Amino acid sequence: MPDPALRTGFVSLVSAGPGDPELLTLKAVRRLAEAQVVLYDDLASGAVLDHAAPEAQLIPVGKRAGRPSARQEHVNQLLVQHAEAGLRVVRLKSGDAGIFGRLEEELIALTAAGIPFEIVPGVSSASAAAAAAGIPLTRRLTARRLQFVTGADVTGRLPADINWAAIADPGVTTVIFMGQRSFPELVRGLREHGLSGDTPALFAESVGHPHQRLIRTTIDELARMMEKAEVSQPGLILYGPLAFDATPQIG
Ligand SMILES: C[S@@+](CC[C@H](N)C(=O)[O-])C[C@H]1O[C@@H](n2cnc3c(N)ncnc32)[C@H](O)[C@@H]1O
Repeated sequence: MPDPALRTGFVSLVSAGPGDPELLTLKAVRRLAEAQVVLYDDLASGAVLDHAAPEAQLIPVGKRAGRPSARQEHVNQLLVQHAEAGLRVVRLKSGDAGIFGRLEEELIALTAAGIPFEIVPGVSSASAAAAAAGIPLTRRLTARRLQFVTGADVTGRLPADINWAAIADPGVTTVIFMGQRSFPELVRGLREHGLSGDTPALFAESVGHPHQRLIRTTIDELARMMEKAEVSQPGLILYGPLAFDATPQIG
């Protein structure tokens, strides 16, 4: 009877970065090349998958691939099943795996099943968006805090328990993930809580992809744009005392 411990595989929860394969870490590239199975999200697909071995099994587990209600549970099961079959598994997540990526649910499932794992950190779309626009995320005198906020709860709407005092703070760089649809409502709240409509804003769409789009504007103007916009691509919104004046030529 083979020792069951020897049959247990290993799961690497790997950050894919925003999409540009040059923003993968060396560790991510190595794990992809060694993987026998790669479970990947919609936003962690495309050119980054070219680093997987030709014989690896590539399994899409993004929203479009699964039943929305059972999706996360299904991903957890697939991770455990493949690892229990003794395989080297990569779970590829967009940006940095630990940011708004439902990493926790997968860690709990792996721990409960006794599967060894590691987390490979990476470049968040937030860092990549600021870099693409040629601005820093913090500023020594005017933006001494940086906050990452989700613009959508499980129903897709603006979270009801949002901390308005924190996100209307003019001395902070705020990055809104998954917030394109709710941004007009968010800006109404920000204005009510005292933030100026002229506050600089950056809209960063499809960062690190060939069709990347960057728009420098203000929160009021961006809210007007978002009222009419069709959302079909991933996008981030940064606002606060952004250093647009430092690099007028980029973005
Ligand atoms: C589920 S969250 C994952 C975030 C990811 N872990 C990260 O660190 O970038 C997905 C959201 O991240 C943002 N996002 C991810 N990739 C992006 C990209 N390449 N360009 C712009 N926004 C992106 C969008 O707001 C998208 O709706």
